[in-house]
Amino acid sequence: MKELLKAADAVRARAWAPYSRFAVGAAIRTPSGTVHVGCNVENAAYPQGQCAEATAIGAMVSAGETRILEIAVVGSGPDPCAPCGGCRQRIAEFALPETVVHMASAGGRTVESVPFRELLPHAFGLRTAGEGGTGRPWAAEMVRSRLPQARPRIGLVLGSGLGGIATALEGAQTFSWAELPGLPRSTVPGHAGRLVLGRLAGVEVACLLGRVHLYEGHAASTILPLVQLLRDLGCGALVLTNAAGSLRPDVGPGRIVRILDHINMLGTNPLIGLRTEHGPPFVDLSAVYDPELGTILDRVAARIGLGLEAGVYLATLGPCFETPAEIRAFRALGADLVGMSTVPEAIAARFLGLRVAGLSIVTNLAAGLAPAPLSHAQTLEAASRAADALAGLLEAALPDLAAALAGSA
Ligand code: HPA
Repeated sequence: MKELLKAADAVRARAWAPYSRFAVGAAIRTPSGTVHVGCNVENAAYPQGQCAEATAIGAMVSAGETRILEIAVVGSGPDPCAPCGGCRQRIAEFALPETVVHMASAGGRTVESVPFRELLPHAFGLRTAGEGGTGRPWAAEMVRSRLPQARPRIGLVLGSGLGGIATALEGAQTFSWAELPGLPRSTVPGHAGRLVLGRLAGVEVACLLGRVHLYEGHAASTILPLVQLLRDLGCGALVLTNAAGSLRPDVGPGRIVRILDHINMLGTNPLIGLRTEHGPPFVDLSAVYDPELGTILDRVAARIGLGLEAGVYLATLGPCFETPAEIRAFRALGADLVGMSTVPEAIAARFLGLRVAGLSIVTNLAAGLAPAPLSHAQTLEAASRAADALAGLLEAALPDLAAALAGSA
């Protein structure tokens, strides 16, 4: 922020403002890290001059860039200088609602920083600000600007206690979700929000470390930009992992279960409110978990001597664990596993055209079947104990999974 304010303040000295005598400087940082600056330019027909923000936007577009990650505006008065209404609309063309706007007084002595959404009224069409209404691949562009060669084929969502898998990646490159525009914040211990790119068993992968749970208070649609990022980076498939409770006494803690299908008891859906050009997204979910990828996982598990179970995963909203009566009801519905994640990502992935595989680590027998009360600490601990087995399966299966994708591309 300091660098951006300094650049805006410096260019203010070049302002052509003989009529208002109010020099303004603006500086824009884009996903490539470049800073574009501009000052106000008045003319004898004052007040029809050009604002500093407009000049900076002109410089950015002329340089071939169209994304504002962060913008600073420095005025000549004692109070922070806010973009005018016209410039807010101009910024909206190239910014996201989360884009930070720094408004400063002369010399940057007083600074107010707000997300752009707070400057722009709803009437301006905030939901699609800067996205042209089509979900422009901002976060992926940001990743590409740092790693132009990155072409991950498979996305991995690493659930509770499973983040260790990312440490096995060769040439790992890490981004925090906080530095990628449009991505949500995860708040649960053991669910740090990071994207790690690298190679596992010779296959380029992109791992989402940590995840968004609806029990954190997020809307289900918060998941979409994460899955979209993996798709935009080039992933053709998404492997979802999680920690789950087992409804089958014969499949106890430490076992790994391949997800065959799911039951959505979240009471919500990540696609709510979305409209495609054909209307609401009536996505077909008759084969969410890809049979071909599933067969590969079964075959590889058998090859490496891992007893891989298969079952139906039921998602609850949480954050409470279930009651024994709920577990009995879920068993009657056909569930083998219960957890608080995975289903929104799987639906988002199908909507976005990714093939899906799912693997659960059983951390406990579900409520009423377990000898002791359930806890998150126990979930994390049991997941990290079985994580090596899951990592072994993934590593062994990735080349075949990637080959299946190449075959279908
Ligand atoms: N219930 C819900 N979520 C879970 C469980 C459970 O028993 N174990 C791990 N995640």
